[in-house]
Amino acid sequence: MNVLLTGGMGYIGSHVAVVLLQAGHHVVLYDNLCNSEIETLARIEQIAGVRPTFIQADIRSAKALTDALKHHAIETVLHFAGLKAVGESAINPVDYYANNVGGTVSLLEAMRETGIRSLVFSGSATVYGEPQYLPLDEAHPLCATNPYGRTKLHIEEMLRDLSASDPLWRIVCLRYFNPVGAHESGLIGEKPVGTPNNLMPYIARVAAGELKELSVFGNDYPTPDGTGVRDYIHVMDLAEGHMAALGWLTGHPGCHAINLGTGQGYSVLEMVKAFASASERDVPYQIAPRRAGDVAACYANPEKALKELGWQAQRGLPDMCASTWKFVSSRPEGRG
Ligand code: NAD
Ligand code: UFG
Repeated sequence: MNVLLTGGMGYIGSHVAVVLLQAGHHVVLYDNLCNSEIETLARIEQIAGVRPTFIQADIRSAKALTDALKHHAIETVLHFAGLKAVGESAINPVDYYANNVGGTVSLLEAMRETGIRSLVFSGSATVYGEPQYLPLDEAHPLCATNPYGRTKLHIEEMLRDLSASDPLWRIVCLRYFNPVGAHESGLIGEKPVGTPNNLMPYIARVAAGELKELSVFGNDYPTPDGTGVRDYIHVMDLAEGHMAALGWLTGHPGCHAINLGTGQGYSVLEMVKAFASASERDVPYQIAPRRAGDVAACYANPEKALKELGWQAQRGLPDMCASTWKFVSSRPEGRG
């Protein structure tokens, strides 16, 4: 199949590209490189043995998108491009609406223009807001608590409206829980610019000696050890979930939401312990106040993905930590 990945040079898109290339799909990566690097292209090629087509352009250019979709006879779009930092979204909300919502409008216009009606969207568990019950299934009420989350919710709503207006559309919103880990080669992984906001990349840099210690945001939550619990999912499991969704979509018109999580929650302290063990490094930490906007626990009910896509996560926490460590410690600045 000819597929176009917006944001395909980023953390999740690059892993999905590897899996799709290895399965024989023709892959076009469309990215403006605002949060990724050109070196990733050669690394994807090194792993997959095939070089994907790369187009450096912005999703807000409907013209550039239309040309790319036509030129490569694209059949399905996987839409990863977007800005994703929760804190930054509260400081620059207009950038987030312009890039995430405006960029998606532009993509949908280009798809309409070219007659492509098949879309896999990078959704987020953030659309569930504060959990009213756990585990979170797809029927849980939706609510956003920050501008980033609102962009994800607006996009989902827009996609549902679109699907209601035209039964030919086939759309799946994959709601990711907490993607972590890296490809087993250590060649591609998550490389945040500046100090990481998220737990796993922060722990990795503490283990590498680049950051002094982790601040554990709160140890008085109603969880077994008092620290926040999340559903961490290996990025390669996530990538395989996209492959499964791509095949499934062919026979499923409409707009669907499917969780991609493991169903298993781990606390911050469990993550610290697992990473220290995988890296054989100390991960010093101190207890700090709760971070504004955090919830105590968030984990998926992954049954729909199994029932519909025949997919479930295969890789455990040791693998998530070991692959992250391999990626981080093989970078020159990570050797410590
Ligand atoms: P990422 O920043 O690594 O990748 C996004 C890619 O999109 C980058 O390569 C960036 O250069 C590109 N991009 C951004 N704006 C663009 C634009 N206007 N035009 C063209 N390219 C553009 O992020 P990621 O972690 O790979 O996330 C991918 C998607 O998954 C995002 O939509 C994100 O919101 C969603 N998501 C991520 C997480 C997570 O924890 N990583 C969780 C839930 C959902
Ligand atoms: N944490 C720390 N110290 C840190 C960073 C995080 O203790 O330095 C804790 C948090 O308090 C939380 C857990 O580690 O309990 C995970 O935090 P992350 O920032 O890694 O992940 P979140 O669950 O807060 O957020 C993620 C994505 C968001 C998305 C959200 C819901 O980063 O984009 O999941 O899907 F909106």
